[in-house]
Amino acid sequence: MKKQDSGSNPKLSAKTTVAASPALKELFKDGICDLYWAENHLVKNLPKMMASATSPALKGAIESHLTETKGHVARLEQVFELLGEKPIAKKCDAMEGLSKEGESIIEETEAGTATRDVGIILASQKVEHYEIASYGGLFQLATTLGLTEIADLLEQTLAEEKLADTKLTDIAESEINYEAAEEA
Ligand SMILES: [Fe+2]
Ligand SMILES: [Fe+2]
Repeated sequence: MKKQDSGSNPKLSAKTTVAASPALKELFKDGICDLYWAENHLVKNLPKMMASATSPALKGAIESHLTETKGHVARLEQVFELLGEKPIAKKCDAMEGLSKEGESIIEETEAGTATRDVGIILASQKVEHYEIASYGGLFQLATTLGLTEIADLLEQTLAEEKLADTKLTDIAESEINYEAAEEA
């Protein structure tokens, strides 16, 4: 589609790049700072989840998502650079809460059981869904603000979060849920 650039009063389109509200840009930046905190927090937290898991498939999935998560941090640093800002982490209460929930599942289940693995998957999928919601929303907003390069970066991470979530579902459905159902 051709961009409308004539006339003194152009219609708003999804590709609006001019005169975007400073408050909206600020809201966008805030969302990025929040995710930056969340992803850094996950880099510290995922090794604990991995160590608490028993199934090799689950351990492997968490390990590979840990590597991806480090990449998410690096992508957000690129986003800050494109925004002309220094990376700033703003405490994400939601991610802190989700992590605490994961930790209490570990405390409340027995080591070496499939039941604990099921709990770890449940907690991890809540984290992935939070990330999917955040990256999905911020990707849309970046597109609206005409921040194409930033939108591309957010979209790449969004795809990895969705795949991580699907992988967890597959692991749960293919083995762990059944094993847990048979545990005493
Ligand atoms: Fe992530
Ligand atoms: Fe993730």
